[in-house]
Amino acid sequence: MQEVLFLNDVKGAVSRLLEGAGYNRTFVLCDDNTAREVLPLVQCEALDGAHVITIAAGDAHKTLDSLAHVWSELGAHGATRRSLLINLGGGVVTDLGGMAASTFKRGIDFINIPTTLLSAVDAAVGGKTGINFNGLKNEIGVFSEAKAVIISTCFLATLPQGEIKSGFAEMLKHGMLESEDEFMRLLDYDLTAADHDQMLALVRTSVQVKQRIVEQDPHEKGLRRALNLGHTVGHAFESFALHRGEPIAHGYAVAWGLVAETVLSHLKRGFPSEHLHRLARHVRDNYGAFHITCDDYQALLNYMHHDKKSVSGEINCSLLRSCGAVETGITVTDDDMRAALDIYRDLMGI
Ligand code: GLY
Repeated sequence: MQEVLFLNDVKGAVSRLLEGAGYNRTFVLCDDNTAREVLPLVQCEALDGAHVITIAAGDAHKTLDSLAHVWSELGAHGATRRSLLINLGGGVVTDLGGMAASTFKRGIDFINIPTTLLSAVDAAVGGKTGINFNGLKNEIGVFSEAKAVIISTCFLATLPQGEIKSGFAEMLKHGMLESEDEFMRLLDYDLTAADHDQMLALVRTSVQVKQRIVEQDPHEKGLRRALNLGHTVGHAFESFALHRGEPIAHGYAVAWGLVAETVLSHLKRGFPSEHLHRLARHVRDNYGAFHITCDDYQALLNYMHHDKKSVSGEINCSLLRSCGAVETGITVTDDDMRAALDIYRDLMGI
């Protein structure tokens, strides 16, 4: 099982993981930002002599070219099957680095050190690796677990508030999948507080929710689809926003998608309306609203029908009967979705 360490002494954790592990060469993969902002924070004796590989930051660079660059650097600097790659960055770095390590010489060990909240609670844990290809996100990749994941909240100070909110939306999703208590604990957290210890405790629970699901269904044949809660509508909002030239952050799309899919959960599975209203208020207060009109519904439905997780063109969602009780693979009709979007707009005050 993947070892996940939750601590703020990252240097100590790196030293312990490397000590006696017998790696003949260590590589660190960064992007432009983490090379500048984060690498100095984790530099320690255990990393003396490590070769640093840098790729350009951003999802636009999660490409075959960047992957080939990492393979070339590994090869040119003497990596063997007994070498280690440490991925230090957000989801692009951990996804691409995980794929580079899993395919180089048929697989070398890698450790993820996520530096954004979003990658800490989602991308870095659970074994999904990959790159974008032919204009499609995460089109090519393999399931391959990191040897270890080091999760710390000490990097969060380097992030803008919007990045924190983006990661927090995935935490809300995990909280709703877990229990009413966990959901309420998250709603009560003051997002502006920057309390790293309290945040680390919330992140730990959040990651454990994901880990429990992934352990039961590592290759996403059933239960893991629960982690797509909020994402059927969220991805449609993201694609629609991109198309109209006003891209939105993934986590914000998930927050708005969660509201719309919780409306669906209420309509189709009796999810308590009081919790729906609390979620909607939290999202409206912290993320604002994603503006749509009924003229946009057809375009949004088209995106949902073409979602890569949709089976035979139907709209597919994971829905909640209550917090902690999820059902996956639910087919939703266009009429249900239109009704949910109407109520989403009411709740968001648009
Ligand atoms: N991001 C959802 C999953 O890892 O399955």
